[in-house]
Amino acid sequence: MIKRNNAAIQASEITPRELFYGRRRFMQMAAGAGAAAMLSGAASAGDKLAGAKSTAYMLPDKPTPLEDVTRYNNFYEFGVDKESPAKSAGSLKTRPWRVAVEGEVQKPGVFDIDAMLRWAPMEERVYRLRCVEGWSMVVPWLGFPLAELIKRVEPTGNAKFVEFVTLHDAEQMPGQRSGVLEWPYREGLRIDEAMHPLTLLTFGLYGEVLPNQNGAPVRVIVPWKYGFKSVKSIVKIRLLEQQPVTSWMQAGPREYGFYANVNPAVDHPRWSQARERRIGEFLKRPTLPFNGYADQVAGLYAGMDLARYF
Ligand code: MTE
Repeated sequence: MIKRNNAAIQASEITPRELFYGRRRFMQMAAGAGAAAMLSGAASAGDKLAGAKSTAYMLPDKPTPLEDVTRYNNFYEFGVDKESPAKSAGSLKTRPWRVAVEGEVQKPGVFDIDAMLRWAPMEERVYRLRCVEGWSMVVPWLGFPLAELIKRVEPTGNAKFVEFVTLHDAEQMPGQRSGVLEWPYREGLRIDEAMHPLTLLTFGLYGEVLPNQNGAPVRVIVPWKYGFKSVKSIVKIRLLEQQPVTSWMQAGPREYGFYANVNPAVDHPRWSQARERRIGEFLKRPTLPFNGYADQVAGLYAGMDLARYF
């Protein structure tokens, strides 16, 4: 563990901050109260986190109110009810927190979350999140492309897939005492999906550090896929040659495929995926292919039978 004492002064504390971050980035950070939290490394739920609004990733859709985003959650490590994560995720300790990145890479490493926060400029991006259960939200997330992390560890030519693993600790995550899923929660992407500019390594939402129930301190958001691909509270990222088996594929191989692209034309075996209910709205709306991101991502699946590779 990284000890926070005088012997371990970080470069950011010696170099004038403007020089260390670059002037533009300093201005951007100083513009929000997030600078203090980020620099001290003490960021926890509720602390401000600043990010430049990314005009390329804005949406006409109205963002879902913060109260709904933080009180209607799927996070089975804290129970299967939508209200449970908000009530019980306080037991998750998000500092110190490290993420191991390993497997088919030239430069594996174990990275401290507060160092990772500084790897690239923080951006605010408004994304749709469509849950496989048929509801959806619109959330202003804060993060930077996952590609920044992957490039840093230098994948080998064998790296074809990326696996994400959530913390496994039933003391902090009491839902792991139940057998509802195989723990730890594991998900995966193909490497080109993981490197796609839309795939966001996410540290915050609504101008704040991620609340625990939304996957603190770091998760991914893959907006063209069903929400279960957007893994929370990540402690390990493995680059692999073979496609990994995910927790949901293990739980229901006929129901939850590896790709899990949002697709209104391919029903879940037990319900239609043609429509969705935006949280806070009464009438359902049509679900869009690739959750509305077809222009950006459909090319990744050219020639693939998306009913077979669901
Ligand atoms: N990650 C972990 N570790 N455990 C989970 O149960 N649920 C997934 C995903 N990531 C889940 C997870 C599902 S089904 C959805 S819809 C989204 O998180 C919900 O994210 P939100 O609660 O921030 O809206």
